[in-house]
Amino acid sequence: MSLLAGHPVSAGDDQGRMVCACFGVGYNAIARAIRQQGCTTTDQIGIKLKAGTNCGSCLSEIKAMLDEVKPAGIRL
Ligand code: FES
Repeated sequence: MSLLAGHPVSAGDDQGRMVCACFGVGYNAIARAIRQQGCTTTDQIGIKLKAGTNCGSCLSEIKAMLDEVKPAGIRL
């Protein structure tokens, strides 16, 4: 539906720019998994979202996100 509409159905569905093409997982979905669901490794991201569990070409970007995106409550 969001493809037809040209935008996400709701703000909560906004995946952000595509990171894992194999499973259609975007930046925002991975950031939410890190911030809100406590994912700290690529394996945990894979379990939650499947991102990085097929060809693996997105793993370097997911690893970079794990360094950049901080869990909720941590302020630097
Ligand atoms: S692009 Fe993420 S597993 Fe292939």
